Amino acid sequence: MTILITGGTGKTGAPLAQKIHDAGHSVLVASRSGSAPEHLKGVKFDWNDPSTFENPFNADPNIDKIYLICPPVSDRLTPMKPFIDLAVAKSVKRFVLLSATVTPPGGGFTGEVHDYLAGLEGVEYGVLRPSWFSENFKSLWLRGILNDNEIVTATQDGKLPFVAVADIVDAAFNLLTTPEIENPDLLVIGPDLLSYDQAAEILSAALGRKISHRKVTVAEATEIRKGYGLPAEIAGFLGHLDDTVAQGNEEKVVEENNKYVGKVRLADWVEENKAAWQKV
Ligand SMILES: NC(=O)c1ccc[n+]([C@@H]2O[C@H](COP(=O)([O-])OP(=O)(O)OC[C@H]3O[C@@H](n4cnc5c(N)ncnc54)[C@H](OP(=O)(O)O)[C@@H]3O)[C@@H](O)[C@H]2O)c1
Repeated sequence: MTILITGGTGKTGAPLAQKIHDAGHSVLVASRSGSAPEHLKGVKFDWNDPSTFENPFNADPNIDKIYLICPPVSDRLTPMKPFIDLAVAKSVKRFVLLSATVTPPGGGFTGEVHDYLAGLEGVEYGVLRPSWFSENFKSLWLRGILNDNEIVTATQDGKLPFVAVADIVDAAFNLLTTPEIENPDLLVIGPDLLSYDQAAEILSAALGRKISHRKVTVAEATEIRKGYGLPAEIAGFLGHLDDTVAQGNEEKVVEENNKYVGKVRLADWVEENKAAWQKV
């Protein structure tokens, strides 16, 4: 049987596809380009183009499990529902969805997709709800660190359990390959609860230059991220998420029972990736 990885070229999808392949399972990588690493099979798939939804099942009729990465829009269920329904009709038996701590079932964004999977008859599902990725220091925060030696947020002194993609991939692999999913709503966190002040200290120690955390209002953070090229809707949502960190929401996640605690400490991850922030 085959596991289909949507978002198969992305941060979690690409290493997950590799891990599944290395473990001896059949894997099919979906992306808008249809490309995949040389030894893996790729298929063209676009949430915005329903004519591509049959492609994975034509490429491999043995798909029985699917890893779901949502399209980057606020209404996620509308484009995803027809594909999920088609997959059930094609005998897919398990879905594993990447959501977030901040998008619980019963809420908007990925929470609606979570609810939809939970209401399906005859299929298993698991939802991973990670906290903020450590990898954001190499994407969202990269420009500020490189250009201005700073991370700008509206999180104030709020703390969060930064989680490395490698840990999320391990949790996803477990849900996709375990004989039975015991906990379908799984928070995924890293081993340390840290503020951005502390993260900046970790970066400073590793890079040998001072990196600061500049605390701004939500409105200022939103404007700055629009300046990084993010669409206004996403920049505004991230500003709101900063505020939830400031309110202590990510600290409460650590107290929950339904969680997978990863192994990768932020300090070790920064040390391993420090070439990303070297000025050339
Ligand atoms: N970053 C965080 O801190 C964080 C925390 C918690 C949860 N999350 C969640 O993690 C998920 C992934 O976010 P990410 O930033 O890490 O993205 P990503 O997985 O690195 O990249 C997005 C993937 O989606 C694919 N994609 C984009 N538009 C598509 C479309 N129209 N149809 C099909 N595929 C499409 C892209 O592939 P192609 O371009 O090759 O098609 C790419 O593989 C999001 O749902 C986010 O909410 C992120």
